[in-house]
Amino acid sequence: MKQFIRKIIILFLNTSFIIVARGQVEQNINIIPIPVSLHEQPGEFILDQSVHIDLINIDEKLSDRINWFSQKIATVTGIAFNSTTGIKKIRISINKTPDTNLRTEGYHLKITSQLVELTSNTSAGAYYGLQTLLQLLPANIESSTLQPRIKWSLPTVEITDYPRFSWRGLMLDVSRHFFTKEEVKKFIDEMVKYKYNTLHWHLTDDQGWRIEIKKLPELTQNGAFRVKRTGQWGTFLPALANEKATDGGYYNQDDIKEIIQYAANRYVTILPEVDVPGHSQSLISTFPSLSSTRLPYSVQAGWRENSDNRDDNSLDPSNEEVYEKLDIIFGEIAKLFPNPYIHIGGDEAFKGFWQANPRCKTLMAKKHMKNVEELQSYFIKRLVTILQSKGKKLIGWDEILQGGLAPEATVMSWRGMEGGIQAAKMNHEVIMTPWDYVYLDLYQGDPRVEPNTYGMCRLTDSYHFEPVPIGISEKLILGGQANVWTEQISNFRHLEYMVWPRGIALSEVYWSPKNKKQWPDFFNRLENNFNRLDAAGINYAKSCYDVIFQPSQPNGLDLVVKLTAEAPGLDIYYTFENCNVDDHFTKYTGSPISFPFGATEIRAITYKQGKPIGKQIIVSKEELAERSKEEHHVY
Ligand code: ACM
Repeated sequence: MKQFIRKIIILFLNTSFIIVARGQVEQNINIIPIPVSLHEQPGEFILDQSVHIDLINIDEKLSDRINWFSQKIATVTGIAFNSTTGIKKIRISINKTPDTNLRTEGYHLKITSQLVELTSNTSAGAYYGLQTLLQLLPANIESSTLQPRIKWSLPTVEITDYPRFSWRGLMLDVSRHFFTKEEVKKFIDEMVKYKYNTLHWHLTDDQGWRIEIKKLPELTQNGAFRVKRTGQWGTFLPALANEKATDGGYYNQDDIKEIIQYAANRYVTILPEVDVPGHSQSLISTFPSLSSTRLPYSVQAGWRENSDNRDDNSLDPSNEEVYEKLDIIFGEIAKLFPNPYIHIGGDEAFKGFWQANPRCKTLMAKKHMKNVEELQSYFIKRLVTILQSKGKKLIGWDEILQGGLAPEATVMSWRGMEGGIQAAKMNHEVIMTPWDYVYLDLYQGDPRVEPNTYGMCRLTDSYHFEPVPIGISEKLILGGQANVWTEQISNFRHLEYMVWPRGIALSEVYWSPKNKKQWPDFFNRLENNFNRLDAAGINYAKSCYDVIFQPSQPNGLDLVVKLTAEAPGLDIYYTFENCNVDDHFTKYTGSPISFPFGATEIRAITYKQGKPIGKQIIVSKEELAERSKEEHHVY
C-alpha cells in the first residue's frame, strides 16, 4: 500500500514537473494571430554564430525579406547568420510541388534543436512564417538596438498555419488628416507583423484630395489643402473670407508608386478609394460645375452638421462632365495600382440637392427612375462601366445597394452586417466591416479618460467579431477589415493608439480558425505582444485594463452600477469620496453597488497582482444615470 502511495506521489510529481516545464515553454509561445496548429516538444534552438541560412527555390523579393529578417536579428542579438560550416541551419524553401494543406498564404514551420525548417507554396506564405519566427523569439527582438544579456532561442515546435480569409485589411483615411509617405510606410510595417495583407487607402473626401492626377493638376493644387484648424473636430469654423488654405498635403504619382512597391515587397496589396458621389467636396471645390448647386465651396475644414445650411458635397449624376472627369481620374488610378479592384466609396451621399436639381429630374423622367436612390444606382452602374473599361472591378460601401446593386459589384458592409448579407444573397462578393466591431476611430474605453470621439468599440467587441453570418456561404465573404477614419486623429502617435490593440484582435478574427479563438488565451498572448510593441516603440491603448461602469436603474428609480474590466483577473477598488482611490479602499466584489446618500460621483481603479494597472476613472452619478438610458453597447 505504502509503495502504491509512493508511486502515486512520484507520478504526481513527474506530472507536475511536466506541466511546469510545458508552462515555461508555453510562456514563450504567444503568436498572434493564433496558428491553425501548433505542437511543442521540449527543447530549443539556440541562436549562435554557428547558424547559417539555407535557401531553396527562393525568388528575389523573398530573398530581400530574408535579408531584412537576418539583419534585424543581427542588429538586436549581435548574431549574424553568415557561417558556412556550422551544423545548425535555418532552411527556407518554396515547395516545387504545392502542399495543398497550406493553400496560398500558409506555411509550415518545424523547429528542432539543430534545424529551423520553413516551407511554403508561395513567398507570401514564407514571409508570414518569418513573422511567426520573430514572434517566437523574446519580445526584445522588436527593439532596434543591440540587446545584451538575453538568451536568444526559439522553442522547438511544429506549426502548420494558413489564413481563414484572403482579405485581411486595414483602412487608413488620409483625407481627414494627411499622413506622410514615411508614416504610411510605417503603418504598413506595423500591419504586416499581424499578417494583414490589404491596405485600403481612403484617398479623397470632403476634407482633402490626396492623389496627384496628372491630367487634372488643380485637384491637388487646390483640393489637397484646407484652412488650418486645431482642437476638437466638429467645432471647427469654415474658411473665413480670404483665409489661406495651408493645411494638408498629397502624394504625387512617384510617391504613390513608391508606396505601392513598398507594400508589395511586404506582400500587401493597396486598395485605392476615391469616394464619390458623396464626400466629394474637395473635388467640387476644385470643379464647382460638378455639383448640383454649382456654388463655390472650399475644401472642408471639419464637418458641417447643419443640414439646412449644408455644403453641396455630392456630384451631380445628371452631368456628363462628372463622368468625363471620373474617367480621367479612375484611368490614372487604374494604371498606378495593380489591385484588380478600385473602391468608389458610394456612402452617405446627400441626395437633397439632386431632388431640387432640374437636370436630375429630367434624367430621372427620361430613364423612368422612381426616386433618387435609383439615380444613385444609375451613377454607380456608370462607374462599373468606366472601371471595366480600365480592366478593374468595383467595390463600394453598402449604400450601393440602394436603388439596385450594379452587376459584379463587391460590397463593403459598414452600417452593420445587413448590407453584406443582402449582397451575398444576390451572389455578390462581400467584405465585412461593420462599424460597431471594426471602426477603430471609436472609443475603446470610458469617454471620461479617452480622447473625444463618437460611439464605442471595445477590444472585446473587435475580438468577438464573426465575419460570416449564419446561413451565408463563407466563399462569398472575402474577409474583413479594421477601418481607421481620421477625423479625430491628427497625428501618427494617436493613430497607433487607436489602431493597436484592436487591430491585433481583428488580425486573429481574419486569420485564425474560428474555433481557436478564446478571449483569456488571446489576452495572455496580447500582453506578451504589448512587450513587443513597447520594444518597437509603437504606441497602443491600454484601455482594456480600465474599469467599465455598467449603470442600470432596475426599478426605474435607484441607480446601481456594476464594475467590470475587459482584462481578465483584475481587482477593482472604488470610493464615493472626494479623494484618489487605491487598493486601501473598498474592493469590488461583483454585486451592483448603489450611491450612498449625498454622493455625487464614483472613482474606481484596477489593480493586477497588487499593482495599479488601469487609469483612475471618475464618473458622476448624473452621467451614469444618463448612460443607463443608452443602449447597453454604447458604454
Ligand atoms: C462610412 O463609414 N461612411 C463608410
